[in-house]
Amino acid sequence: MTRIFSGVKPTGHLTLGNYLGAVRQWAEVDQHRAESLFSVVDLHALTVDHDPGRVRRLSRQAATLLLASGIDPERATVFVQSHVDEHARLSYLLECVATDGEMRRMIQYKEKSALERARGGSVRLSLLTYPVLMAADILAYGADEVPVGDDQVQHVELTRDLAVRFNQRYGHTFVVPRATYPKVAARVMDLQDPASKMGKSGDAGAGIIYLLDEPDVVRKKILRAVTDSGSEVEYDREAKPGISNLLEILASCEGGSPEGLSGVYESYGALKKDTADAVVEMLRPVQEKHKELVADPAYVEEVLRRGAERAREMSRPTVDTAYRAIGLLPPVDEAR
Ligand code: AMP
Ligand code: TRP
Repeated sequence: MTRIFSGVKPTGHLTLGNYLGAVRQWAEVDQHRAESLFSVVDLHALTVDHDPGRVRRLSRQAATLLLASGIDPERATVFVQSHVDEHARLSYLLECVATDGEMRRMIQYKEKSALERARGGSVRLSLLTYPVLMAADILAYGADEVPVGDDQVQHVELTRDLAVRFNQRYGHTFVVPRATYPKVAARVMDLQDPASKMGKSGDAGAGIIYLLDEPDVVRKKILRAVTDSGSEVEYDREAKPGISNLLEILASCEGGSPEGLSGVYESYGALKKDTADAVVEMLRPVQEKHKELVADPAYVEEVLRRGAERAREMSRPTVDTAYRAIGLLPPVDEAR
């Protein structure tokens, strides 16, 4: 059976980009067709300036939102990355396979480290090695597919390279995974700055829709979205990035294609109104379910406990195999 692994980092509140680009696909499609693992990858949240209490709160919230989005713990394994030691164990081995040049070429590293330096801050070493930990997340489980938004393409490519290199040097150990993307909305853009991705940590948040935004806040943000010059509703990501982004969001909510929808609208205003309604309706059941789950923290904790247990069982044999293959002496009790 196909195995799927994906994750979301608790660096901020989950956004519409996370939902349309990744989480909805996990809930609606992936968990039904494959053996799936979805993780709140909290170790990744420590690669940038962080507040410990906030990371804990966001981790719990992200896990709750995965369940509220319809991920069913009877079908999929939902867990917190730091509860399973195998990720960090394998990450070190893969650091011995990856090169520093490879790390420095990662677009996300270049962008985030430049931003950090421009702010006068320092760059954590873990920001550089982050893609290796991500590779460990995926390879520890022998995942075949990694459903992600398109900002993660390069990281999944690197994961493939590391798997192939390890297998060539030390014998076949890892499955070589591939990334999968949603057809529409693989990159949802910021409503105030359609040249940038809608990210969790955007500045004021006016261009970012959070999954837990109240309906009137969602409406306001969409109605105030930056549009393009002219007045024709056309799907053209280069010439009309703002309108194209709204068309993608609407198409993703309603299941059509952005090109097809562009012919339906005569004005920017009408497109915004329908997009706002569609997003509000799509988020309503997720928000309702989230409210129910928040009232039952013991249930969420139990899901995470069982998830971690299962994840440990699934990853341990592969990581142990990698330890042996790379030349580490087995502990005495196991060697007998
Ligand atoms: P992150 O928030 O970076 O942990 O991302 C979790 C998942 O959501 C990854 O698969 C990302 O590719 C996806 N994602 C994040 N932001 C967006 C966006 N603006 N559009 C589409 N997918 C996104
Ligand atoms: N790097 C991913 C992101 O920023 C999150 C992530 C960490 C991930 N480990 C993963 C995604 C493993 C897929 C598989 O979105």
